Amino acid sequence: MEALHTLIEIQYHTPGLYEDILKRLGELELNISNVSREDLAGVDELHVRGAEVSLELASEIMLDDLRVLDVGCGIGGPSRMLADEFNCQVTGVDLSHEYIRTAKGLSELVGLQDKTDFIQSNALELPFENGSFDVVWTQHVQMNIHHKLKFYSEIERVLTEQGTFIYYDIFRTESGKVNYPVPWADDASMSFLGTTSNMDDILERLCFKNILTTDQSYKGITFLQDLFEKLKMNGPPTLGLNVLMGASTREKLVNILLGLEEEQIVLQSGIYKKRAIN
Ligand SMILES: C[S@@+](CC[C@H](N)C(=O)[O-])C[C@H]1O[C@@H](n2cnc3c(N)ncnc32)[C@H](O)[C@@H]1O
Repeated sequence: MEALHTLIEIQYHTPGLYEDILKRLGELELNISNVSREDLAGVDELHVRGAEVSLELASEIMLDDLRVLDVGCGIGGPSRMLADEFNCQVTGVDLSHEYIRTAKGLSELVGLQDKTDFIQSNALELPFENGSFDVVWTQHVQMNIHHKLKFYSEIERVLTEQGTFIYYDIFRTESGKVNYPVPWADDASMSFLGTTSNMDDILERLCFKNILTTDQSYKGITFLQDLFEKLKMNGPPTLGLNVLMGASTREKLVNILLGLEEEQIVLQSGIYKKRAIN
């Protein structure tokens, strides 16, 4: 399992990422001492539909002033949004040292360092006491997780009684195949896309209660088609996902779009409540 974590760290490793983002902000002629959270939105939400979908998901539950854990937080865009828009105290964990370093730097840059905290950690061994968070949030992470039961058990463990679990993820259909590379994996060795029914079964076993399930595939297809139109007209943006995904960004996103169009993969979000123990 250690070897898998190393592979995943390498997959997401982007040396000098924070400094590169600062350089690009400069190229956009933004004043570094006056950067806003919104200025980072093109680069710091590493999932299909970016900042738009995070705000949509967050608006589906009462989040104000809660303690939130963002599992697989990347460079922290969604964590900062939850802290800023909903006054949440957010802790983000991610396997990648470089992402955690960048997440901390960016929070400081936009003045959200007191409401966000980022810790390098494995989602399968969360470094928190039982019942530490009111909400656990995860976006586009389980496709790198082989041990699904452990992943969701850890989420359940760190939630308070009646805490809320909210996810937005990519799943494969029953017979679904993935064409590589994709943003989370260059090949099958680090890709573990689950099916939605497998996740539902696990969450039921863990005594979660389903509150809402939303198929996000159509919106994902529209978003990606629009993105390709923009890329055709304007070329790669100065501060876009290409900063994190490198030279193969287009190929990776095309493979997601084709997978969604051919119904090999689906995008789904949902909300579950942890049941209180009587
Ligand atoms: C596609 S990115 C999504 C980042 C972030 N959730 C977002 O939406 O902006 C997936 C992230 O999951 C992290 N990840 C994968 N496996 C992990 C694990 N076992 N523990 C913690 N983080 C993990 C990766 O390092 C990466 O940052």
